[in-house]
Amino acid sequence: MENYRITVLKGDGIGPEIVDETLKVLDRAGEVYGFRMQYDFRLMGGCAIDAAGVPLPADTVEACRQSDSVLLGAVGGPQWDTMPGHLRPEAGLLGIRGALGLYANLRPAKIFPALKAASPIKQSIIGDSLDIMVVRELTGGIYFGERGRCEKDGVRAAFDTEFYTVPEIVRIAKVGFEMARKRGKKLCSVDKANVLESSRLWRETVVALSADYPDVELSHMYVDNCAMQLVRNPAQFDVIVTSNMFGDILSDEASMISGSIGMLASASLAGGSFGLYEPIHGSAPDIAGRGVANPLATILSAAMMLKYSFGLEAAAAAVERAVNAALESARTPDIFEEGYRKVGTAEMGALVASLIA
Ligand code: IPM
Ligand code: MG
Repeated sequence: MENYRITVLKGDGIGPEIVDETLKVLDRAGEVYGFRMQYDFRLMGGCAIDAAGVPLPADTVEACRQSDSVLLGAVGGPQWDTMPGHLRPEAGLLGIRGALGLYANLRPAKIFPALKAASPIKQSIIGDSLDIMVVRELTGGIYFGERGRCEKDGVRAAFDTEFYTVPEIVRIAKVGFEMARKRGKKLCSVDKANVLESSRLWRETVVALSADYPDVELSHMYVDNCAMQLVRNPAQFDVIVTSNMFGDILSDEASMISGSIGMLASASLAGGSFGLYEPIHGSAPDIAGRGVANPLATILSAAMMLKYSFGLEAAAAAVERAVNAALESARTPDIFEEGYRKVGTAEMGALVASLIA
């Protein structure tokens, strides 16, 4: 039987609760589809700051490197918000993305049939289905560019730098083109080329690469227009490829179109089969420890792991089907509607696990 080694980073806030349910689902999928997961639990984020004084201990990075993939809950919380930037939980997250070279972040925004009514967007705008893939560059741009504090004309100032090299743009654009090729064959590259020089380089590079993908229809959009178009006519999008910060913002927006940010998964890849899988939502400290968090985004992230890292397409599809089936009867508070059973985190996890077939 195939055995996969997973480093598990539960993180902070609701992280531990949602990850625990996800492991139940993974174990059940393994029983049904004939594979085994071996978990190595490590610290990252606020919990690591409390235990080891740093958000990303060296042994955590090493454990991730030694494993087949990483499953992450969420990091952060108000108790660490006053720490200096490099010692915040978020620095752990950026650190691990950088250390593991996870440059390609896939964020699918899909409406689950059972959740159609939960979208704040009118049914007439959504149409029959909505299935957008945001491909976000994850280890470059303003998140990793030079930053600092300084003084200008006698007043305090600060700066962050948007910086991209051509190879960085090429490798993420390739992921976008390849993804489009496997899906609806439409790629929209999002930038701010009317203002930013880095965006002009981005656009030139994407255009040059498009010669290799004559079967993919390439379009370009400024990020402000894209933010508007996502609400006006989301069905026009198939794959969106964009920079680190634009992708951060647009993927939150795209997630809401699909009903709840509590539903959206993500995969961060380094060009091979290794990946880090995490929900796109945060650690929700306001509801942590109450057993009411929605575990589905993490469960769906685990499904992405089965598919992208291990090629277990059938098991991944079974997890997605189980999630949709669970939504037919039960809802966590964030997606609750009249007529459904209101359930907590553990009950939702158990229900999804029981529905895997
Ligand atoms: C995300 C998050 C992170 C990001 C934060 C927590 C650093 O918002 O994964 O989208 O900005 O990348
Ligand atoms: Mg974000």
